Amino acid sequence: MIYLDNAATTPMSAAALDVYVKAATEYFANPSSLHEHGEKAKQLLETCRREISKLIHAKPSEIFFTSGGTEGNIRTLQSLYAANKHKGNHVITSVLEHPSVQTFFLALEKKGVDVSYLEVDSNGLIPLEQIERTLRPDTILASIQHVNSEIGVIQPINDIGNLLKKHGVLFHSDCVQSFGKLPIHVDQFPIDAISISSHKIYGPKGIGAVYLSRDTPWEPVDLLTTHEHGFRPGTVNTPGIAAFTTAASDAVKNQENSLNYIWELRNFFFEEMKEIQHLIKVEGSKNQQLPHIIGMGIKGFEGQYMLLTLDRFGICISTGSACQTGKQDPSIAMKALNKSAQEAKRFFRISIGLQTTKQEITTIADRIKNSVMGKGR
Ligand SMILES: Cc1ncc(COP(=O)(O)O)c(C=O)c1O
Repeated sequence: MIYLDNAATTPMSAAALDVYVKAATEYFANPSSLHEHGEKAKQLLETCRREISKLIHAKPSEIFFTSGGTEGNIRTLQSLYAANKHKGNHVITSVLEHPSVQTFFLALEKKGVDVSYLEVDSNGLIPLEQIERTLRPDTILASIQHVNSEIGVIQPINDIGNLLKKHGVLFHSDCVQSFGKLPIHVDQFPIDAISISSHKIYGPKGIGAVYLSRDTPWEPVDLLTTHEHGFRPGTVNTPGIAAFTTAASDAVKNQENSLNYIWELRNFFFEEMKEIQHLIKVEGSKNQQLPHIIGMGIKGFEGQYMLLTLDRFGICISTGSACQTGKQDPSIAMKALNKSAQEAKRFFRISIGLQTTKQEITTIADRIKNSVMGKGR
């Protein structure tokens, strides 16, 4: 298998797996239990909280563990909105957001809240002036992602945070695709909340975390919840959190080298594709893009065809966000970029991981070229 769907999920690292097994064996007790083993599990949990907080330059008390990015996004937005809704009836998000964020805003719209959807330019970027124009005296909350999962575009969340703060608007950012790949310093610009996820950075699935600034008011969604200081109900998955913490620490520690390596592979891919480069359209801003994600189309070929062709050779790619699978809709990014139906259908995504090799890049490039040039179909 050649796995190039790392934006959908990554394989667990050996270190994260080891820690998972050890924690599940030795620290399986419920961290809420009052006996010695419960206390040991609680200590491990709090060590992880401290470690995750350091990775984004937050305080331990500002970290809440969740079941992943989807829950992190929805629950955080619900908690922020609940505590601040009396301040105004207008909220802002973008047309590029993950379905979990879209779901929240759609639900608010149904309740009669005014929701503005920021458009993106042809590079997939949200112009700051557009945000400024959209702000109103009654705007209370904005959610704008850091990195897009389909085209890898990086939104300038520092500048966005500064602008929103000036207008007293709360800011949440979905950092699921950026955490562990780009530095995140929540202490260096105004941001109220971010969501991160473990399985995009070689940790286990079903685990994530939320940063919620201690200066920001929020309200529990489930009123009787005691876990995670009322943020999220349910017994805490200590082994999963310990493995997530290991994966996250490794990702941040090796961030720069990893980024260089992935850039090298991305550039190599396009060198290998030179023969057919006139047929290729790569989506998203070249200057503000994470190298891991190559969202592209090839003239005359549907993305679905590419996916199935490559799958025959054991090569895994995707035609958009995994959360959209099964829907007839075009990819969220293609819709946001106002692509024609034909262009949108061409879209497919190759997402590179740390386990990817140059040889694998050569193989996928050869398979794509062969299928485009009519060989080996
Ligand atoms: C940008 C973004 N946000 C949120 C999520 C959801 O994260 P999780 O799979 O941990 O629920 C994903 C996963 O695809 C994502 O790419």
